[in-house]
Amino acid sequence: MGFFIFSTLLQLIYFTSAEQVSVVLDPNFSLSWQIAGDSITFGFNCSFDGWCGIGFYGSMKQTDMIILIRQNGNFDAWDMYSTSHGTPPQDSAKGKGCRDDVNLTSSSFNNGRMLGSISRLLNTGDTLCDWVIKPGEAINFCFAYKQKSNIQKFQEHSTYGEGVLLIGLNQTSSYFLPSSSFGSEYEDHGNEMTVMWLCLAPLCIMLIRYLKWTYLAFYGHMLLGYVVLGFTCGSVYEIYKKDELAYNDLSDNKRYHSRIGFILCAFVIAQAITGAMTKMWMLFKEDLSILRVCRRVHMALGWCALIPGLINLKYGWDIKGDDTAKNAVFACYAILVVLLALLEIRHRFSHKIRILQWNFKLKRLNKAKPALEKSLMDQMGSTHTEILNDIVSKNLSCVFYDEYLLNVSGFIQNHPGGAYMIRKVIGEDVGKYINGCSSISGFIASYDHSRPAKNLINSLIIDRVAYTAGVLTKKSSDQSLDYGNMTWELVRKYNIAEGTFYIELTSKDWAVENPPKGFEWLGKHFGVRERIGKSEVIRYYSLMMTDLHHWAREARKEGFQITKKIYKKSKSPDTLKLHIKRYDNGLMSRHLCDLEPGSEYKLKGPLGPGLGFSSAPAGICTGFAAGTGILPFLDLVYMIWNGSVSSDFCLYLYVTFRSKKDSFALDLLEATQKKSGKALNLHINLDEERVGGKLTEEKLKEWVKIPNISRAWVCGPSGFNRWIESMLTSQGLQRNKLMIL
Ligand SMILES: *[C@@H]1O[C@H](CO)[C@@H](O)[C@H](O)[C@H]1NC(C)=O
Ligand SMILES: *[C@@H]1O[C@H](CO)[C@@H](O)[C@H](O)[C@H]1NC(C)=O
Ligand SMILES: *[C@@H]1O[C@H](CO)[C@@H](O)[C@H](O)[C@H]1NC(C)=O
Ligand SMILES: *[C@@H]1O[C@H](CO)[C@@H](O)[C@H](O)[C@H]1NC(C)=O
Ligand SMILES: *[C@@H]1O[C@H](CO)[C@@H](O)[C@H](O)[C@H]1NC(C)=O
Ligand SMILES: *[C@@H]1O[C@H](CO)[C@@H](O)[C@H](O)[C@H]1NC(C)=O
Ligand SMILES: *[C@@H]1O[C@H](CO)[C@@H](O)[C@H](O)[C@H]1NC(C)=O
Ligand SMILES: *[C@@H]1O[C@H](CO)[C@@H](O)[C@H](O)[C@H]1NC(C)=O
Ligand SMILES: *[C@@H]1O[C@H](CO)[C@@H](O)[C@H](O)[C@H]1NC(C)=O
Repeated sequence: MGFFIFSTLLQLIYFTSAEQVSVVLDPNFSLSWQIAGDSITFGFNCSFDGWCGIGFYGSMKQTDMIILIRQNGNFDAWDMYSTSHGTPPQDSAKGKGCRDDVNLTSSSFNNGRMLGSISRLLNTGDTLCDWVIKPGEAINFCFAYKQKSNIQKFQEHSTYGEGVLLIGLNQTSSYFLPSSSFGSEYEDHGNEMTVMWLCLAPLCIMLIRYLKWTYLAFYGHMLLGYVVLGFTCGSVYEIYKKDELAYNDLSDNKRYHSRIGFILCAFVIAQAITGAMTKMWMLFKEDLSILRVCRRVHMALGWCALIPGLINLKYGWDIKGDDTAKNAVFACYAILVVLLALLEIRHRFSHKIRILQWNFKLKRLNKAKPALEKSLMDQMGSTHTEILNDIVSKNLSCVFYDEYLLNVSGFIQNHPGGAYMIRKVIGEDVGKYINGCSSISGFIASYDHSRPAKNLINSLIIDRVAYTAGVLTKKSSDQSLDYGNMTWELVRKYNIAEGTFYIELTSKDWAVENPPKGFEWLGKHFGVRERIGKSEVIRYYSLMMTDLHHWAREARKEGFQITKKIYKKSKSPDTLKLHIKRYDNGLMSRHLCDLEPGSEYKLKGPLGPGLGFSSAPAGICTGFAAGTGILPFLDLVYMIWNGSVSSDFCLYLYVTFRSKKDSFALDLLEATQKKSGKALNLHINLDEERVGGKLTEEKLKEWVKIPNISRAWVCGPSGFNRWIESMLTSQGLQRNKLMIL
């Protein structure tokens, strides 16, 4: 009992002796208080007309507020409890037992300054709508005010602040510490986002769009993408968590900024998902249609994120009111636009604007050409066959593209059509795929690559490959003659089969060696370039040196039945022969077949790894030919006929034509099979006549022992090539033994 009286007495003395304490919340608002007994009297000192208020233990949510307001010249004190960002109601209006527990004890308005004393109990007993004020404890505290004369209605605050307040009994023990994170958090957010969206995001896009052939492109793209994702979402979340103002309370700039920010987060998250999907399909699947959708969505989202991202920077720096920073951002926009424009121009037009090609290796290779002109064939580099052997033995990721060798090791994983397409063509000549003559995807229709895709090839070139020696020789020592740009004149054309034209060409510059020396030339092709309409079209036609007329005569001499009419005598031994199937919807074949004698052909070649022989053919080989796909094999079969192959050489040849009318040279093949015995093993199929029968997996297995095959070639339309390829590989043929011509 004695102790109770003593402590009550002590408290009384203590409290009554508490002094008036004041703190400055902001230059326009100072707060004072005096604790007496169990009540506290706050002094509001606001240098304006309108309202000013304080809040305990929070910022907007679950915050107990006391407001001094001057409406129509009359002061009022309100007790409020805020649960959200909306305008809070007064406690008494809230019901549920909430009461207004503050009294305005004095007020004045002098020289535009509002002064008011508001008292309440430290513990009002209103547990729902008031917090207990505990002197001596540091608490989360906020204040806000609105400067406005003749305020009619409680309005959104114009200034807001928060921090830590200690309501002490004397001046020395009390303080207000403005929240240190307030402001600096926004500043960090601004700086982070500026770096992300002005530097990293554009870099991320540039890497994958303009540097596709490098390893860096993908890894850099992914890394930067995730950094941008992480920082953007993290930073936006931090700001969101601060939970400061209601949407309605935001200024326009802030409103746009915040909504664009949220949309950006959605975009970058979607980016990460579509990016991962795209990559998965690129690397592991063989489904072009899904890949295409993923990739396009990813690309569209990428640009859709970058542009609002950049716009949001402007709003951000607008809000901060930092004009220097904003101008710097504008300057960066300009630099970025110029850089992107340059890269895009290079991407699209580097074939026209030479200075934009910065493959120094290619420049050196091209420059070196004139010096080597004298003996172009031998000195210009290794031959296709030598390089092909290297590719196979050293497991190099290289492909041929006309007279160039491309290093696709970095490009494989970024090939927009999927990695499998490149993996399948390692060691092949990819000209036919790039220029839309053949297709490697599940789609039968071939895909003529876009101009930017073709421009990109310049960056992949690592070497020049020699044109095959022994087929064509120069008639003069003219330095400017170039195998890459030969002009030939059409001297004769006739139908060798329905729809297939025999085209005979002669040149004043080039002599034809017949038979050519060596074996390298077998199965190669010529590139034909023509400007048709507005576009330049490139197509590839097989090299076939054997004179069918001569062969037929030899065969007849040996007693074989050979149709007389179709193999006509050539105009001269010094002519080049092409056999071209005329497709009604084929731009180039129609053009070439409809040219009249005397017209010019622009040829390049011979190109490609061909059948890949550097010495007399040996071992067990298989060829699969559909239609004019038979051409690359005819020279080989004639070698069998003529006995210029090794004794252990054996060719299994599957030939398919739609009908007898379309076919040619079948009688020569059959004669060779009869003459040579084991060296040629034919399987002929004529669809319409139902001769021979289509190949099936069973028939194939019976016909040839797959593990014994040392080389296999397929030459036909894309669908045929894919079908044979899958049949052979599913039966265990190693992919690198198979060559698609
Ligand atoms: C204080 O109020 C004056 C006008 O009354 C205003 O110009 C000034 O910006 C205010 N200061 C702060 C820190 O808000
Ligand atoms: C209100 O604040 C101003 C400026 O801080 C000060 O000059 C003035 O004395 C204060 N008035 C009262 C009654 O505390
Ligand atoms: C506020 O005023 C009411 C009556 O006007 C009084 O009963 C109450 O004690 C006062 N509260 C304080 C904290 O002064
Ligand atoms: C202020 O109050 C604190 C306790 O709240 C006390 O420790 C301190 O001595 C007081 N200072 C003065 C100058 O009275
Ligand atoms: C060849 O290289 C590829 C990747 O470039 C690799 O996956 C494969 O295992 C290699 N093969 C051999 C036989 O080394
Ligand atoms: C191809 O490029 C990769 C990476 O740039 C390199 O490691 C490799 O040696 C290159 N291959 C050839 C044959 O140049
Ligand atoms: C090809 O040769 C012709 C002359 O025969 C020449 O006019 C043309 O510029 C050459 N084209 C290229 C790409 O070298
Ligand atoms: C055929 O063989 C003979 C002798 O074996 C040879 O002289 C001739 O050049 C060969 N013809 C062809 C086209 O290979
Ligand atoms: C084909 O391979 C088998 C073993 O798989 C072997 O016994 C046979 O002699 C080979 N045939 C030829 C012609 O090489």
